[in-house]
Amino acid sequence: MKQLCVIGIGAGDPDYVTVQAVKAMNRVDVFFVVDKGPAKDDLTRLRRDICERYIDATSSYRFVSVDDPVRDRTAPAYGPAVEAWREERTALYERLIEDELGDDETGGFLVWGDPSLYDGTLAMLEAVLGRGRVMFDYEVIPGISSVSALAARHRVPLNRVGEAIQITTGRRLASALAGDIDNVVVMLDSGCAFADVAGGDIDIYWGAYLGTEDEILVSGPLVQRGGDIERVRADAKARKGWMFDTYLLRRTTAE
Ligand SMILES: C[S@@+](CC[C@H](N)C(=O)[O-])C[C@H]1O[C@@H](n2cnc3c(N)ncnc32)[C@H](O)[C@@H]1O
Repeated sequence: MKQLCVIGIGAGDPDYVTVQAVKAMNRVDVFFVVDKGPAKDDLTRLRRDICERYIDATSSYRFVSVDDPVRDRTAPAYGPAVEAWREERTALYERLIEDELGDDETGGFLVWGDPSLYDGTLAMLEAVLGRGRVMFDYEVIPGISSVSALAARHRVPLNRVGEAIQITTGRRLASALAGDIDNVVVMLDSGCAFADVAGGDIDIYWGAYLGTEDEILVSGPLVQRGGDIERVRADAKARKGWMFDTYLLRRTTAE
């Protein structure tokens, strides 16, 4: 039976790759790279570097790269557009596994950070199995997520004793803070959602390109540092052409 490994490779620093991930990578015959967006080239290069660094020089493996289908965000009806995009992605993964992976081979997906966090690979593999055309078994190797990297680099825990944490997107930040949550981690924020937060009692711990040589860290009271972060972020994005940032917002009054 075909085998697949979904391997979390950490969120930037090649040293984030775990021993378990290295062992799994050394079993892989073909790596599937499915990326999109402006960060695509940099992230693909990093995956290749990781393979060169950690896979035994005597092992042979190959890469198959494809572009992730782009969702039609201009379509008038949201539901059918998302459904069509999901169908296209599922068919793409199915074709990769069917055509590019031999019956006794192991395929690998090198997932940025950890596969459990804002990543579609696991849902996609289940969808492919659900269609019933290709059979395979798969395992998941956890990785160091950008959230773990953020907390480590700022030397803070994500919550204080007994408190809850919510992980959400920039778009949903306002509703997260409206509830009874003291610690909110924000990912996938394309536009500084923290700028709309009334932040008198909130600290921010912000990190961009965590674990890479371009890493930027800023922290402090949101009212004092929010504007600095917006400027630093805009400069970095203009320089590099893409931005990956994650931040923790924490109410100070809860202490
Ligand atoms: C599609 S999600 C993938 C998350 C990934 N699975 C993880 O475990 O971190 C991409 C988002 O993760 C965050 N992210 C990923 N890598 C990052 C990094 N090195 N530095 C800062 N944020 C990062 C950003 O919020 C980015 O928009």
